[in-house]
Amino acid sequence: AKIENIRNFSIIAHIDHGKSTLADRILEITGMVSDREKKDQYLDKMELEQERGITIKAQTVRIPYKAADGKEYILNLIDTPGHVDFSYEVSRSLAASEGALLVVDSTQGVEAQTLANVFLALDHDLEIVPVLNKVDLPSTDCERVAQEIEEVIGLDCSDPLMISAKTGLNVEAVIESIVTDLPPPEGDPDAPLKALIFDSWYDSYQGVVVLFRILDGTIKKGDKIQIFSSKREFDVTTLGVYTPEPQKTAMLAAGEVGFLCASMKELNDAPVGDTITLAVDPVKDPFPGFKEVKPMVFCGLYPVEPAEYEPLKGALEKLQLNDTAFSYEPETSTALGFGFRCGFLGLLHMEIIQERLEREFQAKLIATAPSVVYQAKLNNGEVLEIDNPSKMPEAGDLEALAEPYCRLEIHVPNDYVGAVLKLCEEKRGIQQDMRYLTSSRVIITYEVPFAEIMYDFFDKLKSQTKGYASLDYEVIDYRESNLVKLDILINTDPVDAFSAIVHKESAYPFGRSLALKLKRAIPRQMFEIVIQAAIGRKIIAKERVAPFRKNVTAKCYGGDISRKRKLLEKQKEGKKRMKKMGNVEIPQEAFMAVLKAG
Ligand code: GTP
Repeated sequence: AKIENIRNFSIIAHIDHGKSTLADRILEITGMVSDREKKDQYLDKMELEQERGITIKAQTVRIPYKAADGKEYILNLIDTPGHVDFSYEVSRSLAASEGALLVVDSTQGVEAQTLANVFLALDHDLEIVPVLNKVDLPSTDCERVAQEIEEVIGLDCSDPLMISAKTGLNVEAVIESIVTDLPPPEGDPDAPLKALIFDSWYDSYQGVVVLFRILDGTIKKGDKIQIFSSKREFDVTTLGVYTPEPQKTAMLAAGEVGFLCASMKELNDAPVGDTITLAVDPVKDPFPGFKEVKPMVFCGLYPVEPAEYEPLKGALEKLQLNDTAFSYEPETSTALGFGFRCGFLGLLHMEIIQERLEREFQAKLIATAPSVVYQAKLNNGEVLEIDNPSKMPEAGDLEALAEPYCRLEIHVPNDYVGAVLKLCEEKRGIQQDMRYLTSSRVIITYEVPFAEIMYDFFDKLKSQTKGYASLDYEVIDYRESNLVKLDILINTDPVDAFSAIVHKESAYPFGRSLALKLKRAIPRQMFEIVIQAAIGRKIIAKERVAPFRKNVTAKCYGGDISRKRKLLEKQKEGKKRMKKMGNVEIPQEAFMAVLKAG
């Protein structure tokens, strides 16, 4: 394809504003998707994504299009993930594009997450075309939303595209504007190869599949490529484009987008954000902005049955093949036995992986409460990364503890500002900024300990603003904090899986609340169970679970065998998610009580 006839574009939208629907409609109008396929949201590959309605893995489609000017164009739609946990991937997808459609729900308005991505796009000098969606709905208010886009982002929105991705209204005009309003790529097909990896995944047949955008140079099947950061070399065995089905090609040149396979065994062979060049004539400077993605949130995953340890290990191995942001290593808990410490980008990422494990691998799991990574500075000058509260050094060895802080940007209508400020203050937030975007919408910026927003902040924010607030966060640095380790003792035995690191000021209420939550979560047993919360040697809270008075099955009127069996089966079912600690049975819910105690 001639470079001036290529358009590489992304779609930026808040969750539910209609990105996938618009992408589907574009594919349909350009004849890329058959009627049978129309029903499926084509770009959302995985079943789980569809269920949750979010796009996790970016996927790209090459769309040949004959425009109104009579010329043939190649439109490369570069899909981007839509959640706060995945903002690095979004930034790489944007870096591969020259322009973006900004899809805003015309019944709602500009949301914080959208804004963060718009500013990312502007940082990459992308041309942005605003698109007002859902004009078929009675509550559409294009005038207000267009004004908001002008005021908030500073984009010209005097003559916006007003569309319904659902009915298809004006979607044709959107495609035309991709051609007329977005610039073609620039690049030299004869320069040394420089291509940006903006997505990669593991395929059990082909090994690693790499999606890339060529900035300069040309790539051919059979070329020996070099990955810039590792200097490792691979032979290109397959080169192609998605239409959306994979279609092989012999060559791709500057400005183009495509995929390649090169007998790579693991995702780390081709990390997102890295640069591909040719081994014979490598570029001097890589594409800027490469960074390794690192897990930020950790939890323990333990099989309910010890026999499930090996299968679980296999499942984790498989999962990691396709997700460099996910990590795992074996760990042993005195309470839970053999399991794994697993790392995730954020809570959503964690939930997705746990669900996938349970569904695809049928593994029954006990998950411990998630924790951020703390830095412990020891008296001897050493600094340890603590991803598990139970691994905290003895108080005597500790000089200081630091925790990750994030910058939090919240968008909220005027009426809820008070509620948001109160919530952020409760979470030890430090206010940085508060700006009125319009007379009715406010952006509030806070710096907050990551641990404080990790648990129930999202839910609280939503419920206290009737769902109107939206947020974006980014971990910025580590700061020393007055933190203590809180332990839980069950019948005087410490249970490592219940340990938590909490701020000293909230340690007492947290300990009391946690002990009470555990009391409610742990079922009665044949003997009394004493639950204690402790900081060091000091017991700060105590609860008791009274023993059974009588046999449960005694309720079953003796003779009714089937009822009795049913009850026993029910108990067995309930037991599946129980873990025996000493002689106390503890259900899965109890481990999550830590989350709700704050
Ligand atoms: P994520 O994939 O979660 O990022 O969401 P998305 O932005 O891709 O939104 P999606 O396309 O899944 O649309 C969200 C909901 O809005 C769906 O129920 C769509 O059917 C609906 N929707 C999208 N476009 C329109 C529209 O133009 N009009 C109406 N009435 N509904 C729409």
